[in-house]
Amino acid sequence: MHQKSNKTKKVAIVGTGFVGSSYAYSLVNQGTVSELVLIDLNKERAEGEAQDLNHGVPFGSPMKIKAGDYGDCHDVDLVVITAGANQKPGETRLDLASKNAKIMRGIVKEIMASGFDGILVVASNPVDVMTHVAYEASGLPKEHVIGSGTILDTARFRYLLSDYFQVDSRNVHAYIVGEHGDSELPIWSHVTIGGLPLNVYGKLNNFYEDRDMQAIFENVRDAAYQIIQKKGATYYGIGMGLARLTKALLYNENSILTVSTYFQGEYDIDGVFMGIPAVVNANGVREILRLNLPEREQKQLENSADILRNMYNNLDK
Ligand code: LAC
Repeated sequence: MHQKSNKTKKVAIVGTGFVGSSYAYSLVNQGTVSELVLIDLNKERAEGEAQDLNHGVPFGSPMKIKAGDYGDCHDVDLVVITAGANQKPGETRLDLASKNAKIMRGIVKEIMASGFDGILVVASNPVDVMTHVAYEASGLPKEHVIGSGTILDTARFRYLLSDYFQVDSRNVHAYIVGEHGDSELPIWSHVTIGGLPLNVYGKLNNFYEDRDMQAIFENVRDAAYQIIQKKGATYYGIGMGLARLTKALLYNENSILTVSTYFQGEYDIDGVFMGIPAVVNANGVREILRLNLPEREQKQLENSADILRNMYNNLDK
């Protein structure tokens, strides 16, 4: 990674639509970065977002926010790409693939022309395929190109389990892995509540029903469709998820997050970006966690990988 002085924590956001501006707002509120550059085709929109956010800085901690262009990426630690068309009601993330792949290639070319050599984070959907496109177009090491993956799905999963059991979501450990989309899967075999396996903790509660768990997973998988139907788009959850990932990267946390990262034989899967628990630090993805999956979950993970690999391979190159 570009050896920058660690006194500044500088991030560039490409795309200041709902997701990009929600992410920026999360960063300002959490005081995560010292400098923020907002880049958008609509320069006036980026300027307006920067101006509006700057007026909130006196309520938070000192930082510099400006509208900029791709040339400003040369000395940033992270570039986070949120630009692209978003899902319309009834549209799947994979429907977006070809449209957004062309946009992604153009964006990454501009970023790399600046001399950028930091970490590239991708949130544009379909995020696993777009992260793969960004990886190929950037020439960066695979550890330095990271998709938001299933970090939001995992958060939704933990929230719904915590609500069901009335336990703080920070004491619920549970992963959604695979495609950030319809073929994602819950790793039931590794869900713990306060360290107790789900099938032990569940039986301690007389209201627990297995069928409730399936309903929880379906609500996780279909959450975006439900929200898009009601308010037209999703952005607060993903914005906060990107802020969480940013902190793990900028503060060298070695945190475990279900980011979209490149498989090279892990879980007997190769040549695809997909959400999986991975250790994340200042140098990007340190390692993919090796869970001991039961056959059913392994097969579901392989199915998700096949769907993503086919989608990527069928893109117009
Ligand atoms: C969602 C978008 C970020 O799942 O894909 O809300």
